[in-house]
Amino acid sequence: MTKQVSMTRRGVLCSGAAFASLPLLSPVRGALAQQSDAPLRLRAEPSKAGLRPAPYGLTDVWSYNGVVPGSEIRVRQGDRIRVLAENRLDEGTTIHWHGIRTPNAMDGVAYLTQEPIPANGDFLYEFDALDAGTFWYHPHHRSSEQLGRGLSGALIVEEAEPIRVDRDVTWMLDDWRMTDSGQLSDNFGNQSDAMHGGRIGNTVTINGQIPDRMAVQAGERIRLRLVNVANARIFGLDFGDLDPVVVAIDGQPVAPHAPEAGIVMFGPAMRVDLVIDFTGKPGDLQSVQDVFYQRGEYRLVDFAYESDALRQTVPDWSMVLAPNPLAEPDIRNATRHQIVFNGGMMGQMMMGGNMGSMMDQMRQGNIWFVNGIAATGRILDPLLTLPLGTSHIFEMENRTAWPHPIHLHGHTFRVIARNGQATQRLEWQDTVMMAPREKVEIAFVADNPGDWMFHCHIMEHQAAGMAGVIRVDAGATKT
Ligand code: C2O
Ligand code: CU
Repeated sequence: MTKQVSMTRRGVLCSGAAFASLPLLSPVRGALAQQSDAPLRLRAEPSKAGLRPAPYGLTDVWSYNGVVPGSEIRVRQGDRIRVLAENRLDEGTTIHWHGIRTPNAMDGVAYLTQEPIPANGDFLYEFDALDAGTFWYHPHHRSSEQLGRGLSGALIVEEAEPIRVDRDVTWMLDDWRMTDSGQLSDNFGNQSDAMHGGRIGNTVTINGQIPDRMAVQAGERIRLRLVNVANARIFGLDFGDLDPVVVAIDGQPVAPHAPEAGIVMFGPAMRVDLVIDFTGKPGDLQSVQDVFYQRGEYRLVDFAYESDALRQTVPDWSMVLAPNPLAEPDIRNATRHQIVFNGGMMGQMMMGGNMGSMMDQMRQGNIWFVNGIAATGRILDPLLTLPLGTSHIFEMENRTAWPHPIHLHGHTFRVIARNGQATQRLEWQDTVMMAPREKVEIAFVADNPGDWMFHCHIMEHQAAGMAGVIRVDAGATKT
């Protein structure tokens, strides 16, 4: 981890440079603004982005519509989302709508739910925004490189009655691996990243720029939507003297609570909605530190209080969001399935298993295993087939030495237990962090028919086998 110390934003890349103040995303108001039938357009294309402040030059990236991250799509719950994806890359791509429930054919998974959109091809995505919350979009084809070069954007679905705040702010947190010349390192998919913690970068951006400060007012209440769009980096944010309140995880409302140990921790693909009351004084500076990696801590950004206060007291407005219409799993009668994750450097297989066959597997790029299978290439046979409408519990076990954010498509699950202990809040999530050796139980109703990906969202782990397909089958009978 020592390498990361020199790679922080205050490190080699940027010392002495003038920092930009934090860019705010300008949303494309989807159905909110435009009642016409024309779909929104997202054009995947090579472009250049000013990730680093002047005097540094531009970086070659892949973007949607020329901006990194892609435009924030904002709609209201119940709206129909229609997006025409235009592929202007030299290779196939797709768009996956992460965390929002869609029909299977709109899920954007290459070879599973659609053929990749070819270069110069288009594809129309169309679905209803059933759930309100903070979601995002990204390619689901050659994801390590396509995400790592910048393809991602926020999808915000507003509640019919949002909670009252002074400002609603989205932070797309990304992590880039840049070379000394300020271009992206092109060692995508190398075996070392795959075997270890994935492609951890050396440059963290918020909304596509290395942040310096964000102006706030004393007394202000902000809803801060955090979205981790990094390939592999896990964030653990410490807001110092502020007391952020977690009001939603992965877009789904949760009983408002203080983050565990005061640190807002979220892995790749996860989202956390915070409500923050800015209780400092005019002129104050409050740093946000990322403390997730030991000896890799760095200052992410400063909140800079303006000279005038907005109000003197903390508002008493409710922070409770209305629940989304999710089917409640029948936990007592649910079918249980054991799912074991294995592999990687220093994993149980490597330490206890047959070293010879392990090396053979690795030569083929099979590094991570779900119930003994490394889903590299196009292994699309279902790991499990679940009858439509039935309740299931996945008893997941991480028998590796690495943390993994595990994501299920098409469904939202409750996290019901960790290491045999019931969770306090039964959080609804679509991606759940598993610490090394941890056991996590999730419960859900298999109510969305189709073949759904189930995988680690560290993109290099997914590519090296940490994936499977869960089939929800209207024809299957309950056993
Ligand atoms: Cu964010 Cu399989 O997806
Ligand atoms: Cu993983």
